[in-house]
Amino acid sequence: MGYNPQAEELNTAICSVNRVVYDLLSEKGKAAYFPKKGILGQAAEASNCRINATIGIALDDDGSTTCLKVIDDKINLTSDRAFKYAPSFGVPALRKIWQDMIRKKNPTLGDTTISLPVVSCALTHGIYIAAQMFADSSDTLISPDFFWGNYKLAINAATGAGVKHYPTFDGEGYNVVGLAETMSLAGVGKKVVILNFPNNPTGYTPTNEEAYALRDAFVAEAEKGSKIVVIIDDAYFGLVFRDGVYEESLFSLLATAHKNILAIKIDGATKEDYVWGFRTGFVTYGIQGGTAEMYTALEAKTAAVVRATISNAPNPSQQLLLDAYSSSVYETQKKEKYNLLKRRFDMVDTILSSHPEYAECFKPLPYNSGYFMCVEPDVEINAEELRVLLVNKYSVGLIHTEGLIRVAFSSTPTHLLPEVFEAIYQACLELKQ
Ligand SMILES: Cc1ncc(COP(=O)(O)O)c(C=O)c1O
Repeated sequence: MGYNPQAEELNTAICSVNRVVYDLLSEKGKAAYFPKKGILGQAAEASNCRINATIGIALDDDGSTTCLKVIDDKINLTSDRAFKYAPSFGVPALRKIWQDMIRKKNPTLGDTTISLPVVSCALTHGIYIAAQMFADSSDTLISPDFFWGNYKLAINAATGAGVKHYPTFDGEGYNVVGLAETMSLAGVGKKVVILNFPNNPTGYTPTNEEAYALRDAFVAEAEKGSKIVVIIDDAYFGLVFRDGVYEESLFSLLATAHKNILAIKIDGATKEDYVWGFRTGFVTYGIQGGTAEMYTALEAKTAAVVRATISNAPNPSQQLLLDAYSSSVYETQKKEKYNLLKRRFDMVDTILSSHPEYAECFKPLPYNSGYFMCVEPDVEINAEELRVLLVNKYSVGLIHTEGLIRVAFSSTPTHLLPEVFEAIYQACLELKQ
């Protein structure tokens, strides 16, 4: 089946800059196009008409956006900003400010040409979009064995792609060799990889050396001729709590690494700016030699998947964030919340170092960042039984995942953290008897 001529146009724009990016696209990605004609195009052409009867929203007789006062009274935004649709690509000023923020937070990028972020309905949707565009059922996703469980739905179940895991850690450090070996297992070809730092569930981010080693591993595979798309899930970006840990996104290193490596940055306000229910995320592309023309085509395909799935992301959230990012107090307030999480992180360190007896029952996995840390119970203890005992007898709720117990210190008051670890210890002792 041939593609729609508008999809062909985008494919040609991509191929003319870098054929690898086209080859990496899934069948759905190749077929995707953002309709320039149709309702959206016709509405755009009519936008300056004296009478514009194109738009599927309601306007009052004076031309203002129709709204219910009972809702409007509670929202401190003009009715245009609160109630109208946002574009499928996202609010233009927000896309621009987020791109500027990506550069500021990732100085290694310098003035490398990257795409304008396309707004998704938060990170889950961004991950889903990336998977739709770049993974076919014949592909195998490469992922560490400790990963956010929803990848199974948003990537594997949604595309039919398989998955190949490598052990996340090698001793106390990141298993860069494990990733490299897993990439080369199936020989030279297309590779779809997902990485998430700070990691959910472990709370680990690579050290500076590990981050560069990861970049080198990707480059070595690309040099062999493999074409690699790396989905970088930066949900917890910025929450690094130990010295020597890589503070930028891996996107900084991969966006310019090689003409065979396409980096897709999935990030957003959800966790970074403490607005979980706002549902504002971003999808941003970077590849060595990428041009504005090629990124425009990728953005159009991305917006096409947005249009197909949710039509557009919520406007009020985007408008509120735009105001926040333009505010002089944003950085200070954000730092205060970072400090709150850092105090919790430090408290976990203090608890573990002041209770050497805990090592009889569980050991912490490496952690240095994010919202979480994990402990691994002794082999004789079943992690699910431990979780259930903690809920029922100790009234402490924790997550069991892949044989680990995950502690969300982000949501536990600092003064209660000692009780959490003491409860884990006591429950472990009970199960050992
Ligand atoms: C690693 C990771 N990525 C993505 C998400 C999804 O974020 P959002 O709520 O923005 O969809 C989460 C949420 O828990 C997460 O832990």
